[in-house]
Amino acid sequence: MRGMMEVYVRKDSVMKTLIAYTSKTGTTSRVIQRIAHSLGDCVCVDLRQETPNVADYDRVIIGSPIRMGRLSHSVSSFIKSNLEEITTRPYGLFILCGLTAAGEEQLREVYDAALRNGAVACACFGGELNLENLKQTDQVLVQMALDSQSDIPRATLNWDAVDSFIDAFAE
Ligand SMILES: Cc1cc2nc3c(=O)[nH]c(=O)nc-3n(C[C@H](O)[C@H](O)[C@H](O)COP(=O)(O)O)c2cc1C
Repeated sequence: MRGMMEVYVRKDSVMKTLIAYTSKTGTTSRVIQRIAHSLGDCVCVDLRQETPNVADYDRVIIGSPIRMGRLSHSVSSFIKSNLEEITTRPYGLFILCGLTAAGEEQLREVYDAALRNGAVACACFGGELNLENLKQTDQVLVQMALDSQSDIPRATLNWDAVDSFIDAFAE
């Protein structure tokens, strides 16, 4: 089915996990592949292509890049439409962002306190700026923003934070 990626790594008595995400330039896709391979028995669904049925899963992980200070629209509407199903099973939340220094603040802004407090894990993984994967108009805009803020450190992807997030689910 379009948008679904089964990861055939099975471990004894693991729970079936839905990883619901979006990715514009590929960083979040790489992160969810690592999570899926580590946890096993995961179904990864790109929410721009498919709407999964949360009731089919034992637990849920939701991730999105931050763009213009917000979650991707398909991620926020997925959470809104499935809030009860998500929060009545173990769930995790993460973001990818370019403004790594402001990551925690952005995490608080995009996921409300009740949602964050109920999560098994809730984290910012930093991010990457893959300008070559953007439309040319977006490339110009992002490059201008970067040039005007050369004092802000470039984004880096924090794989240690990804591994700590995985550990919280593996326990
Ligand atoms: C058009 C655009 C807007 C962005 N806006 C933000 C932002 O408001 N805050 C932030 O921290 N990072 C921002 N970023 C950085 C992305 O969150 C970061 O590049 C992330 O790794 C992208 O993940 P993806 O490759 O899965 O799409 C922006 C990136 C782009 C291209």
